[in-house]
Amino acid sequence: MKFSSGTVYQIYPRSFYDSNGDGIGDIRGIIEKLDYIKSLGVDYIWSTPFFVSPQRDNGYDIANYREIDPRFGTMADVEKLIAEAGKRGISIMMDAVFNHTSTEHEWFQRALKGEEKYLNYYIFKDGEPDKPPTNWVSKFGGNAWEYVPHLKKWYLHLFDVTQADLNWENLEVREELKDILRFWKKKGVKGYRFDVVNLISKPAEFVDDNQGDGRRFYTDGRHVHEFLKELVKDSGIDGMITVGEMSSTSIDNCIRYSNPNEHELSMTFSFHHLKVDYKGGDKWSLMDADISALKKLFEDWQVGMAEGGGWNAVFWCNHDQPRAVSRFGDDEKFHNESAKMLAATVHLMRGTPYIYQGEELGMTNAKYTSIEQYRDVESLNYYKILRDAGKSEEEALKIIGERSRDNGRTPMQWSAEKFAGFSSVEAWISSPENYKQFNVEVEERDENSVLNFYKMLVQFRKNNRVVQEGDINFLERDNNDVIAYRRSLDGEELIILCNYRGKNVDLSEKSLSEFCAAGYKKIIGNYENLADNLRPYEVIVFQK
Ligand code: GLC
Ligand code: CA
Repeated sequence: MKFSSGTVYQIYPRSFYDSNGDGIGDIRGIIEKLDYIKSLGVDYIWSTPFFVSPQRDNGYDIANYREIDPRFGTMADVEKLIAEAGKRGISIMMDAVFNHTSTEHEWFQRALKGEEKYLNYYIFKDGEPDKPPTNWVSKFGGNAWEYVPHLKKWYLHLFDVTQADLNWENLEVREELKDILRFWKKKGVKGYRFDVVNLISKPAEFVDDNQGDGRRFYTDGRHVHEFLKELVKDSGIDGMITVGEMSSTSIDNCIRYSNPNEHELSMTFSFHHLKVDYKGGDKWSLMDADISALKKLFEDWQVGMAEGGGWNAVFWCNHDQPRAVSRFGDDEKFHNESAKMLAATVHLMRGTPYIYQGEELGMTNAKYTSIEQYRDVESLNYYKILRDAGKSEEEALKIIGERSRDNGRTPMQWSAEKFAGFSSVEAWISSPENYKQFNVEVEERDENSVLNFYKMLVQFRKNNRVVQEGDINFLERDNNDVIAYRRSLDGEELIILCNYRGKNVDLSEKSLSEFCAAGYKKIIGNYENLADNLRPYEVIVFQK
């Protein structure tokens, strides 16, 4: 298990640190903060895209894979970042957005000019202006096809209309993408994160989906494993750290993606556990998180992947998700307790943990009060869709407030100073008021802070083979308030007990005093003394 002792830190450059006072985070900003990142003890940095892009989807719409967007810096800055990180024992993972390009990419521009070669780089279908080839729905809302009148053709975009899906059936496209991987490997990146990579293989025929939004036709599609094997082999990146972002995937497929014998990827991100608060599976319908469902998903994925020799990326937060402490914890009354409990839940699991910038501070949702404060294309689209569907402004704002990706994109909170110490001017997106309380400066000084708890967890994994390689089995399986599991290796055991409620709860299998009587010692907790039940959002780790 090659990547079992390490932890990855995810950076969203636009919101990490602004070195030149234009309100937008940049590459030099990351370089300036490398010592901070090093202090966390992490081994890898995954940075979301900093390539040339019209920024319709904040860089996930790439117009040139080999050049740096001037907003973020220069190629020299990126080279320096790779070198300076390397000096600190930290490897850089690059974001490979290969399902689609920006419509401003030269390939697409040449397709628009009618060049046959480049028309074949994308998924174009002949048709009439009023009849899209299928009824598939874009992940950002609306139909997934866009008509180009002068070509009399439609093109597929599973995301924004400016993000055209590439045609992976075309070997020339696959060769281009391998070249990009080689280019960045030469520059010194040590790994890759593949954006929505289980969507790359589209079906032979494009037909309407009468049961859903079309995803069943292209998710974990017919050639996806073949394509990945070929990409990895030909570009010479096998053995490097790679993680695939898998949309609506299955355990069986993720085993194949990540079992080392398959030579595809090192690990996979799956998102089922981050849909347990979607009412009826709909992101835009609110409900409280279903803790029983959450627990069942953790168990299925932890045990299922272990049995199949797969490897999970374990995480709560990224640039597409609301903040975990606001979502699964209580970000006011039990802020520190719930942030720590959530951290322990995933960091002691079997897999490679990812920390998303600011998560280690317990950063919360944005708590915006007006639609003007939002920036994300998805949030703005859905605000309109919700309003058009008859929701009041207040209702729509409440839904966007909980579900917006901007919740994870507010500036990193460096200090209690103006603009959260992120920039000398107002940032491109505003901060929640609580930055004065939760920030690096304050938390570095407080030994009981969420920040110091994260550092401890990262170190704990490094020092304990039972966390890296131990078996996992779940406890308290019928207890709706608690997520609990055991890790074991060569007679050594860890018991992780997490209370997901803002009240005291009892354990149903073995009480805390019974654990103690059986020789278990409490080694990690977020309250000082042991009570006879779990206190609000308490985490206890026992060792034997
Ligand atoms: C992934 C990215 C997300 C982006 C989408 C399309 O889900 O994480 O930010 O919008 O892919 O590239
Ligand atoms: Ca800047």
